[in-house]
Amino acid sequence: MEIEFDNVYKCIAGKPILKDINYKFFGGKIYGLRGKNGCGKTMLMRSIAGLMKPTNGRILINKKELYKDIEIPDSIGVLIENPAFLPEYSGFKNLKYLADIKNQITEEEIRCVLNKVGLDSNDKRIVRKYSLGMKQKLGIAAAIMEKPSIVLLDEPINALDESGVEKVKKCIMDLKEDNRIIIVACHDRDELNYLSDTIILMSEGKIIGEE
Ligand SMILES: Nc1ncnc2c1ncn2[C@@H]1O[C@H](COP(=O)(O)OP(=O)(O)OP(=O)(O)O)[C@@H](O)[C@H]1O
Ligand SMILES: [Mg+2]
Repeated sequence: MEIEFDNVYKCIAGKPILKDINYKFFGGKIYGLRGKNGCGKTMLMRSIAGLMKPTNGRILINKKELYKDIEIPDSIGVLIENPAFLPEYSGFKNLKYLADIKNQITEEEIRCVLNKVGLDSNDKRIVRKYSLGMKQKLGIAAAIMEKPSIVLLDEPINALDESGVEKVKKCIMDLKEDNRIIIVACHDRDELNYLSDTIILMSEGKIIGEE
């Protein structure tokens, strides 16, 4: 797996959002995005997810150009900001509904991922009645359940309690196998350091360094 940014530049309403991004992401690694509010972490992830076409430059997913050769990466799981669910369905039913699109995983696997993020797979409560942290866990479960080749998690732990954080960290670490690319944005410096093989430092739309 490989994602290459080749001189990516994005401008919205005359304001540069991403500037001269040249970077290669490799499989089997967890990348942590760090930087101040508004520096472009979410926008970088959106651009990889097929949700934001660069103004200039190219994004290559395994050498195929996104927004040209392909519309979205073939295999991607994304948690960006507030995930949308069907509020009158249970968590399980929501995931089942999503999983039926590709029909690639079993109900057993859905139950397993729910339990792994710290939700009860037998919980009949509808998502409208979920707490913030529960919705976040469901969003993470949805992003990882099909074991996609690219996983983008934008602030996956911000609303979680201690046990939720531990569970989700384990889920993220377990994704590392199979040459997957995992990109996580998180404002908790220690947690990001713990999770990441490489930290990407961003400032004002640019990648300014690596740790
Ligand atoms: N829909 C939008 N239209 C225009 N500009 C936007 C939009 N969303 C974000 N921006 C701008 O893009 C820039 C990068 O925002 P982004 O959301 O990527 O920051 P971030 O690093 O994720 O910040 P945070 O840590 O607060 O999540 C900011 O200047 C922001 O104002
Ligand atoms: Mg953000």
